[in-house]
Amino acid sequence: MEVFNNINKMQEWSLQTRKQGNSIGLVPTMGYLHDGHLSLVEEAKKKCDKVVVSIFVNPLQFGQGEDFEEYPRDLSRDSSLLEAAGVDAIFAPSAREMYPTGFSSSVEVSGEITEKMCGASRPGHFKGVTTVCTKLFHACLPDMAFFGQKDAQQLLIIKKMVRELNFPLKIVPVPIVREEDGLALSSRNVYLEGVQRQEALVLIKALKQAEEQIRGGERDITRLIGAIKATIATSPQAKIDYVEILNGDNLSGLERIEGRVLIALAVKFGKTRLIDNLLVEV
Ligand code: PAF
Repeated sequence: MEVFNNINKMQEWSLQTRKQGNSIGLVPTMGYLHDGHLSLVEEAKKKCDKVVVSIFVNPLQFGQGEDFEEYPRDLSRDSSLLEAAGVDAIFAPSAREMYPTGFSSSVEVSGEITEKMCGASRPGHFKGVTTVCTKLFHACLPDMAFFGQKDAQQLLIIKKMVRELNFPLKIVPVPIVREEDGLALSSRNVYLEGVQRQEALVLIKALKQAEEQIRGGERDITRLIGAIKATIATSPQAKIDYVEILNGDNLSGLERIEGRVLIALAVKFGKTRLIDNLLVEV
């Protein structure tokens, strides 16, 4: 397995790999890998000849007072996991390599899709994500890039950016991976302290209840959101950031439940902010 820290070296490898007739799958990550990331790698291995995993904790997507400094990092553990998973190359640049002194460019998707949900609570976050993904795509030159459905808003924004700016690659969504008890895997789960881990299960409970209500014929969004909030409120530690039910393809608002709907939420347990979602097809 190759490890690149330098953008030019990464590009050279990718150009060479493509010239030899291989397709490249990119799995962009911020490291501290878990089974969710490894499922992205598995999907990439099925669909592409060579797989690159990028590991970069992107300062541009963290706001002031967020957890950039504390974000868990363990490059040597990540490398062993990726080697064992049969990955061909790791791209792990430094912040200076990605954003040298004087760096002042950005790529931004504007409008409703970036303004609601996490966009409302984390101003500038998605501009940081689209800027870094643009750089990662240019460094690794993938035919396909694999993103988890857990970050549903991020996935739709990246898809829109790739479509509208004609990036020559395909974005492949990969389903959420959960612990046996239903908690969605996240690198931030390590922050959960004491009872918070158990209390965080209200998220999947509330999402599943809403799904059942929809399957049972409920179409009223206000009632559904009310029920989700009531379930989450049974956890003394939970502080709701948002609960939304939106069009699952573009995050536009809905009058009532119809088509492919995304039930999405962000909830804080102490200092730890967790997101989760379910897609329901009606
Ligand atoms: O989902 C993530 O881990 C990050 O937002 C990404 C896509 C790697 C960009 O930094």
